[in-house]
Amino acid sequence: MASLCRSAASLLKPRAAPAVRSAVRLCSSGARYEYILVEKRGERSNVGVIQLNRPAALNALCDGLMKEVGRALDAFEVDGDVGAIVITGSDRAFAAGADIKEMQNLNFQDCYSGNFLAHWNRVSTVTKPVIAAVNGFALGGGCELAMMCDIVYAGEKAQFGQPEILLGTIPGSGGSQRLTRAVGKSLAMEMVLTGDRINAHEAKQSGLVSKVYPVDQLVSEAVKCGEKIASNSKLVSAMAKEAVNAAFELTLAEGNRLEKRLFHATFATDDRREGMAAFVEKRKASFQDK
Ligand code: CAA
Repeated sequence: MASLCRSAASLLKPRAAPAVRSAVRLCSSGARYEYILVEKRGERSNVGVIQLNRPAALNALCDGLMKEVGRALDAFEVDGDVGAIVITGSDRAFAAGADIKEMQNLNFQDCYSGNFLAHWNRVSTVTKPVIAAVNGFALGGGCELAMMCDIVYAGEKAQFGQPEILLGTIPGSGGSQRLTRAVGKSLAMEMVLTGDRINAHEAKQSGLVSKVYPVDQLVSEAVKCGEKIASNSKLVSAMAKEAVNAAFELTLAEGNRLEKRLFHATFATDDRREGMAAFVEKRKASFQDK
């Protein structure tokens, strides 16, 4: 997996026009992708980048696309060089939601017995830090996909919304839960009940995104953030991510207890020893991920 998708790398330069790219990519690992582009970026090729690439449908998240995202995440997860992952779309759309045409004729039995959309959850179970770089529309499942990531960066023209109510349905991949936790009850209710969108600056103000960048700088800034993360111990980063995520699941007492145990556990790692020794010796730490 270390050489994952080298063939795609040369095809995904920051300013390349998405329209000229072929939608089918063959990676040296043998993985074949129809709906996404996958490469490793950063000076040390330690940031995995997944670009949603279904422009004609504004990156609507069809089943095939989400399965490919899952496969690419699986590959990055076991790639020892990769310390962080960026998920992005195009300048026009991060993703315009679940594929409405694909789900139009589903009935309750199909959804229930097939546990429709359950596999999307893979994005939130990755142990490596995942950054969403959102340009353009992040609607419905697109907004939910961004919120499954650990950090959300937005381009100045990004728009976030949960418009499912306008289709006679409701968010189905965590929108009602994660949006409420991110922006609070009143704004989440307003967005879910009216289908109204918020722009990048409103998203920043409400805590949905942490940074807003000009459209053309967004992905490179997300990769820079990924490089910063990847330069730390991957082992300890995974523990830090687990601790922060626990805040959404546990009581304060339980969360503090988990944090304390994970903190104690870092003292069993070489990387904790190296990090503190490097500080005392006034040099840069060299982490070995163990
Ligand atoms: N599913 C399938 N196709 C979609 C789509 C979606 N979610 N969003 C856009 N498309 C397609 C359009 O059908 C259109 O295709 P055709 O050219 O073949 O007609 C193409 O993408 C371009 O879209 P528009 O012509 O509509 O572009 P626009 O600039 O006029 O509008 C938009 C852009 C506001 C994003 C509009 O496309 C839109 O409202 N899309 C649907 C957004 C939405 O409702 N998302 C929620 C989906 S449900 C969901 O996600 C459930 C969940 O919780 C998981």
